[in-house]
Amino acid sequence: MLPPFDLVPGVRLRLVRAGDGDALAAAARRNADHLAPWEPIRGADHATPARQEAFAADMVAQHAAGTAAAFVIVRDDTIIGQATVTHVVRGPFLSANLGYWLDAHETGRGIMTLAVGAVAEYCRDALGLHRLQAATLVHNDASQAVLARAGFERIGHAPRYLKIAGSWQDHVLFQRILKR
Ligand SMILES: CC(C)(COP(=O)(O)OP(=O)(O)OC[C@H]1O[C@@H](n2cnc3c(N)ncnc32)[C@H](O)[C@@H]1OP(=O)(O)O)[C@@H](O)C(=O)NCCC(=O)NCCS
Repeated sequence: MLPPFDLVPGVRLRLVRAGDGDALAAAARRNADHLAPWEPIRGADHATPARQEAFAADMVAQHAAGTAAAFVIVRDDTIIGQATVTHVVRGPFLSANLGYWLDAHETGRGIMTLAVGAVAEYCRDALGLHRLQAATLVHNDASQAVLARAGFERIGHAPRYLKIAGSWQDHVLFQRILKR
């Protein structure tokens, strides 16, 4: 199946496209406090339409080149989340990294679990990948629960793996083998 994917009534998952900058910037502004503990410290221009339009353009170009696939989760015309596949590596690895977030007011409904499942199928069927990896902070219970429900398995502990919220923090690594 190809996107857009219907997740729950009124909520769709589609690829990022040119023109998403305004809605992405609005989502980043709305969710700045919600996301800050789980993300790198963002630059002063992060939540601006220009910065987000540049992100969208980069993702469209990377999708065409086969190195990334960025999705937005949309309710009506409002972007309420993202799921982003980056660092696609081919050859004998056929692997990529997955990151995601959901609007603070949309959590608790299973939307991200459905989105991650749809993205994994897309990575298998459209990108031809063998594996997806995700890394969560050790204390990110909500994210670990999403991955467990979406068929990922815990594969390790990575000390001081990513600089999140200003400090190098340990992460738990997960993978899903995308069986064909
Ligand atoms: C991580 C994050 C996306 C998880 O959001 P979430 O809403 O908990 O995940 P889901 O959308 O899959 O919803 C699961 C919740 O809905 C509930 N739910 C209701 N209906 C459900 C259904 N049909 N299917 C699955 N879960 C359902 C689940 O019980 C669960 O609630 P609980 O945690 O109280 O048990 C969100 O917390 C977030 O954006 N955090 C900040 C950014 C972040 O951490 N990103 C990940 C970095 S690794």
